[in-house]
Amino acid sequence: MKVKVLFVCHGNICRSPVAEFVFRDMVSDDERGARIECASCATSGEHIGDPVDPRSQAELMRHGIDCSGKRARRLRADDFDEYDYMVCMDRRNLAAAEAMRPSDSDCKVSLLLDHAGGGEVPDPWYTGDFPGVYRTIERGCRGLLDTIEREEGLR
Ligand code: 4NP
Repeated sequence: MKVKVLFVCHGNICRSPVAEFVFRDMVSDDERGARIECASCATSGEHIGDPVDPRSQAELMRHGIDCSGKRARRLRADDFDEYDYMVCMDRRNLAAAEAMRPSDSDCKVSLLLDHAGGGEVPDPWYTGDFPGVYRTIERGCRGLLDTIEREEGLR
């Protein structure tokens, strides 16, 4: 059985795609890649079908990661059945996701930085700090991988 992780942000063009591609890159180098699968989506409908913001794409490319095929898609209620972990960038995303959660879902919903000392991933759509957000997301993804390895017995 695969462990399935869904990253969530407002638009699915700036932060959650970076988390998706960084996390996939992080697990791709060994057998964890075969055990862990991930994707990303939006709580809003504003950018559905759009490619990743060029500034996030450029930041990923600086780290040798190509996300050119990714298109934004919206969070659906059935994602709570499909995914084991739903990982949100900020509290607003978390509240929007929780509002859609079916009552019988046991999907584990968290903030990315819950796995790395706490806090929220700031939105570079407003701050413009794409390099800083990349580093924050990378740190969060490392913590998330620790959590998943521990909870899923992957070590
Ligand atoms: P994201 O950033 O949630 O990290 O993808 C945003 C992208 C677009 C908008 C807001 C945040 N927007 O308002 O269009």
